[in-house]
Amino acid sequence: MKVDGKEMRPIWFDRTSETVQVIDQRFLPHELIIKDLTTVDDTIYAIKEMVVRGAPLIGATGALGVYISLVQANNKGADTDYMVSECKRLKDARPTAMNLFWGVDRVMSAALSRDTPGARITAALDEALVIVEEEAVNCRQIGEYGLPIIEEISYRKKGEPVNILTHCNAGWLACIEYGTATAPIYTAFDRDINVHVWVDETRPLNQGSRLTAWELGKHGVNHTVITDNAGGHIMQHGLVDLVIVGTDRTTRSGDVANKIGTYLKALAARDNHIPFYVALPSSTFDWDITDGIADIPIEERDPDEIRYVQGLCNGKVDRVLVPPEDSPAANHAFDVTPARLVTGFITERGVCGATEQDILNLFPDKKN
Ligand code: MRU
Repeated sequence: MKVDGKEMRPIWFDRTSETVQVIDQRFLPHELIIKDLTTVDDTIYAIKEMVVRGAPLIGATGALGVYISLVQANNKGADTDYMVSECKRLKDARPTAMNLFWGVDRVMSAALSRDTPGARITAALDEALVIVEEEAVNCRQIGEYGLPIIEEISYRKKGEPVNILTHCNAGWLACIEYGTATAPIYTAFDRDINVHVWVDETRPLNQGSRLTAWELGKHGVNHTVITDNAGGHIMQHGLVDLVIVGTDRTTRSGDVANKIGTYLKALAARDNHIPFYVALPSSTFDWDITDGIADIPIEERDPDEIRYVQGLCNGKVDRVLVPPEDSPAANHAFDVTPARLVTGFITERGVCGATEQDILNLFPDKKN
């Protein structure tokens, strides 16, 4: 996607320096900083500290992390066991997003199918870059399949703005290109459909107000930032036509883990008869589990992310303490929306209902 006229992705491999480079998302929208990932420790730090974040991007970063681990192993003359244990460390960086394990495992098995260190390094890099390109294409497809949902509402409203609420950042910053939840929105906007996006600020780290608002603004999409608690109110007043969110992990039966607060939006949407769609590439499905509430591990992050708020202050990014210094805080990073509250999934293969049967009809290769 374009940032001030320049094509950008949140991650890329620079062939000249042979280095993985990423946008450091912690400082957006106020500072656009590029960071090199040259070691596995750098990569783990980037994933844990949310230099990179969002399910597909974490997957792509983990995938390139396998390549980095092989280069380091080769430099040290280390054996296969070393690479396997480095990959385990990568997979432990964040617990909820499915794409991380999927990306690391896929590149690891491509590498292990070769015999020599040099061939393994090449295979890992090739496979990781295939994943990056595939996710970009998947998001483009999600945009195409999601478009008719927005078109239909626009037609019904006779061209009046289609008001879409989204939570967190499931945009191109989280996904290589287009985004998951935002892909249908960008596609509709690019085809001259009148869209307006309600952007949940998404406390504590404000991925909505910092990242989604920045992305949409750079693309020229009308949007308004709202507090996380405003969704129910604006839905009751007819100001939301559609909710689209992304997901970090979705069970084969359609339970959806996504950024904390998603579940409350789904409840409010159901109470107000508003369609609630979840957009995801197939890499985000966990085909092994059916009960999201019992089986999806929910990350608990540093309470200081709740206690402090970051923003621009006198021209520099700074953070301030909000609650009393000694008040404890609890930082549950995700929640699970049960399938019964989901209108449908928008995937790279099409749109389906939120039942195991409907999902498997789109992905018959996943039937056991
Ligand atoms: O903690 P984050 O910022 O990595 O969480 C991201 C989300 O919850 C996104 O909504 C999710 O990854 C959707 S897919 C782009």
